[in-house]
Amino acid sequence: MSSTLITNIAELVTNDPHADDLLGTVQDAALVVEGSTVAWTGPAAAAPAADQQVDVGGRAVIPGFVDSHSHLVFAGDRSAEFAARMAGESYAAGGIRTTVAATRAATDEQLTGHVARLVSEMRSQGTTTVEIKSGYGLTVHDEARSLAVARQFTEETTYLGAHVVPEGWTPEEYVALVTGPMLAACAPHASWVDAFCETGAFDEDQSRAVLRAGIAVGLRGRLHANQLGEGPGVRLACELGLTAVDHCTYLSSDDVGALVDSGTIATLLPGVEFSTRQPYPDARRLLDAGVRVALASDCNPGSCYTSSMPLCVALAVREMGMTAAEALYAATAGGAAALDRDDVGVLTPGGRADLVVLEAPTFVHLAYRPGVPLTSQVWVAGRPV
Ligand code: NIG
Ligand code: FE
Repeated sequence: MSSTLITNIAELVTNDPHADDLLGTVQDAALVVEGSTVAWTGPAAAAPAADQQVDVGGRAVIPGFVDSHSHLVFAGDRSAEFAARMAGESYAAGGIRTTVAATRAATDEQLTGHVARLVSEMRSQGTTTVEIKSGYGLTVHDEARSLAVARQFTEETTYLGAHVVPEGWTPEEYVALVTGPMLAACAPHASWVDAFCETGAFDEDQSRAVLRAGIAVGLRGRLHANQLGEGPGVRLACELGLTAVDHCTYLSSDDVGALVDSGTIATLLPGVEFSTRQPYPDARRLLDAGVRVALASDCNPGSCYTSSMPLCVALAVREMGMTAAEALYAATAGGAAALDRDDVGVLTPGGRADLVVLEAPTFVHLAYRPGVPLTSQVWVAGRPV
C-alpha cells in the first residue's frame, strides 16, 4: 500500500479525544496517509519516511466537515418564497408542498443530476461526509426513489416520509402509510428514520409511531424538533434514545436536562435561522450544560438553501456563543457523532483520511474570514479530489 507524507502543515486539527485541547491541534505538523486511512500524525520534525511527499506550504489542515443533516433530493426553486420572507412574510414550512410537486414531476436522472451538483458544491467547501434525507416525495414510489438516488452518494440516507402530510390524506391515513407500505419500500435504501415533529407537521404520538416503526425494521432514529417553537420533540428523541435531535432552536430547561441525561446529540442548523430570520439556538447554554452539539447545513430549498459548512461555523461563532474551536469540533467530530461514526471527523491513526487543506494558517480563519473561500485542497479516503 502506498504512503504519502503531507508536511509543512502550520496547524493540524486532529480532534484526538486523548489530546489536552478540544481539537487536538499540532503546530508545525505532518500527517502520513496509507491507502485510504491516516497512519501517523505529529510534529513534522519527527515524521516517518513515506513513498511520496506533499508540501502544503504552511497551511492549516482540518478533518473534512461531516454534514449530518441535508435534504438534497428535490426539484424546483423557492427563491420567490425566500424573497417574500425577506420582505416580511414568516416561515411556516408550508412551501414544502411546492417542492413536493416539483420533485414528483422530475425524472430520476434530473434528481440524480441535481444531487450530484449539490454534493460537489459541498465537497468544494470541504464537506467529505454528508447525510441526505428523502421527504419531498411523500408517495411510496417517490420516497423510495428519492432514497435510491441519495444512496448513490452516501450510506447516510434518512427516510423522512413523515415530513408533512400531503394533500388528500388525513394524518391518520398518512401515518399508517409511512409506518407500513412506504417504510417497507424505503427501508432497503435507508440507514435512518426521521420525522418532522412540529405544530403543523407531526405531533408527539405520530412522530413516536413513525420512529418506532423504523427502529423496529433496523433503522436508527433522528428527529426534527423544536424548530418553530417549544414542543415535545426534543424530549421524545431523548426518551427513545435517538442518536441526534436536530434544530433545537426553542428549548425549555426540561429539554436541556433531557439532552444531558440521554446523551442525544443536539444538531444545530444556524443556516436556517439565518435564512428565516428566526432567533439562533443558544449553543452556549447547551455546551455549558454538558450537551453534545453538532453543526450541520440543513441544505434544503425552503428554510435554508446553503451547502456551506464554513458559513455554519462562522454563524455559530458570531451568533450562538461558540468559540471557534467548539464550532469546528461540532462541524466535524460532532457531525460524526450525530451519525454514529468514529472513522470520520477525526484525523487520528486508523481514521479515514478525509481532510481539508485551508487557504489559511489556522482553522480560526473559518470564523475570522466569513464568506471567503478558504478551501485549498480536499482529500477523500486518502486521495485529493
Ligand atoms: O429542516 N423542518 C423541516 N424541513 C426542512 C425545511 C423544508 C422546507 O421548507 O422545504 C428543514 O428546515
Ligand atoms: Fe431538515
